Amino acid sequence: MSRWTWYRLGGRARYLFRPRDAEQLALLTVRARHENLPVKVLGCGANVLVSDDGFDGVVVRLDGPAFRRVEHQEGRVCAGAGVDLMPFSRDCSERGLSGLEFMAGIPASIGGAIRMNAGGPQGEFGDVVCEVKVLTPDGAIEDWPKQRLGFGYRKSEIGDAIVLSATLELVEADPQRVTKVYEDFFEQKRSSQPMGQQSAGCVFKNPPGQSAGALIDRAGLKGTRCGEAYVSPQHANFIVADPGATASDVLGLIDKVRDRVRDVFDVELDVEIDIWRPQRKASLV
Ligand code: EPU
Repeated sequence: MSRWTWYRLGGRARYLFRPRDAEQLALLTVRARHENLPVKVLGCGANVLVSDDGFDGVVVRLDGPAFRRVEHQEGRVCAGAGVDLMPFSRDCSERGLSGLEFMAGIPASIGGAIRMNAGGPQGEFGDVVCEVKVLTPDGAIEDWPKQRLGFGYRKSEIGDAIVLSATLELVEADPQRVTKVYEDFFEQKRSSQPMGQQSAGCVFKNPPGQSAGALIDRAGLKGTRCGEAYVSPQHANFIVADPGATASDVLGLIDKVRDRVRDVFDVELDVEIDIWRPQRKASLV
């Protein structure tokens, strides 16, 4: 999976499937269920850490044309799950469609941004979502309104359903002003985060009312290493993987950071990234 994730880490998946369209995806998920194989959807791989032992199931990548369509309809935009969020948000800003400027510098696919309710203090992706088309675990295609999606801080209630596309509501505004706001957000992130290095963005969720980055920093952990992985000296909530790093290095460092922050501040940090482990099936005795 190292080929498919921003971390460039992780072992092999049993299957990697790139469906042509929603119907083919539906057939696959129903079959996988019969075979008792877990299914995971990979967006652009920006928030995922795959273990060195890989993933013993089906990885789905929605990167075909059917999943990358964008349709503009009077203030609303419908975007496929496989659309790359950064160029998409930039394009919306340049068209004078306001609402996604704060997504500047957040690498994600539309599907991933919905599942994780990606965002920052200035806004969350769920804020602009009206409706999402999903494939349910039993193979039905349904439209779920925003209220059904249960958006919260870096979470949604998509559960075992797979996002196919989303309809977003954006506000018409002056294109130059919206683009300037987008660029300011991008610049702000570029100057405070290790953007060009191998990472999966922020590793931990912010505990209520606190900043995980600030806690890790104040615990003196910037620069701390585990093998070839280290806590970014630029932003302490990023774990960067140097060439030669393994997923175990990153996982070891996650534990180290958690232990230290618990010891110093009595705060339990929860991971924000999605960690994929092999999930070997227990043998039936
Ligand atoms: N801070 C430190 N030391 C650090 C890092 C941060 O003291 O090493 C302090 C900052 O000075 C600031 C506070 O902590 O006072 C918060 O930092 P920042 O503004 O960087 O925001 P964050 O809460 O750490 C969140 C998102 C980021 C998103 C930024 C946008 C989470 C977990 N993280 O970071 O999202 O880019 O806001 O401003 O919600 C991601 O999801 O992967 C991600 C990077």
